[in-house]
Amino acid sequence: MINRPRRLRTTPAMRELVADVTLSPKNLMLPVFVKEGITEPREIPGMPGVLQHTEESFLHILDDAIAAGIVSVMFFAVPEHRDETGSQACLSEGIMSRVTRAAREHVGDALVLVADLCLDEFTDHGHCGVLDSSGAVDNDATLEHYVAMASALADAGADLLGTSGMMDGQVAAIRAGLDARGFVNTGILAYAAKYASNFYGPFRNAVESQLSGDRKTYQQDFRRTKEGAEEILLDLEEGADMVMVKPALAYMDVLTQAAQLSSKPVAAYVVSGEYSMVETAAAQGVIPREATIFELLYALKRAGANIICTYWALEFAQKLKEQS
Ligand code: PBG
Repeated sequence: MINRPRRLRTTPAMRELVADVTLSPKNLMLPVFVKEGITEPREIPGMPGVLQHTEESFLHILDDAIAAGIVSVMFFAVPEHRDETGSQACLSEGIMSRVTRAAREHVGDALVLVADLCLDEFTDHGHCGVLDSSGAVDNDATLEHYVAMASALADAGADLLGTSGMMDGQVAAIRAGLDARGFVNTGILAYAAKYASNFYGPFRNAVESQLSGDRKTYQQDFRRTKEGAEEILLDLEEGADMVMVKPALAYMDVLTQAAQLSSKPVAAYVVSGEYSMVETAAAQGVIPREATIFELLYALKRAGANIICTYWALEFAQKLKEQS
């Protein structure tokens, strides 16, 4: 036998020597939920350990994130009032703008602030865009609302806008809108390949989604092989600064394609249902919690993610910091 791969597995030191995938706190992006009008943080059903924060309490999480070596957070806001067009999303005094502005004032430039740019938390029907007279999501009319939201969030101090709505042409429209208003340095983290997934269930509790039905006319069909690459290339051509694949664990093939296609950084979003699936199995005692989560995070790095957006970010950044 000429090749004996087991030689490189003989001792812990040998395995350390040859391990080439690395994971550090800066690779982990922390999603943060802030709910308007509450005075105490609240647990989110189906997402053990993840909270809806108040406009005060989320600032402490930002301090914890910085202390753990995290360098980026992503904000989601839950407004008190919703309407047909999601008008709160575009207000300079709306919850999302307030959160972004308060975070900027609190952390300076210690964190990259990513603001989710989508209407679903703000519309009373729960869709990611505005509807036409037949009740269908109107792509081009929605783009105008996205541009208005982008301006408000850029003005509030966001570094990156997380375009998660899956409207055609959204990156180009937002890029042009930002540039026309002088926000040339506000970047776009494009949710380039985002699938109509069953794994978003607990997130809809987190943002108290009003959606009935599904998002299959705008989010991707998971039965298609090549569409992920098409969406990624389109977003890069339209001016995306980073591209994201979502969900992550069930879509590592798409993630690897993204890493091959993109000269820009690639992010993967471990979504709420993927988080809950692991937490539930761990709570049942069928898998070891910490080791399994590390295995998944390393797998995402190996598959090509530069950045992993995950509800485990804070806890696992703290663990990584202790290990180093
Ligand atoms: C929509 C949005 C969703 C998530 C992030 N942004 C839900 C959806 O598309 O229905 C899901 C994230 C998660 O499940 O953790 N703007």
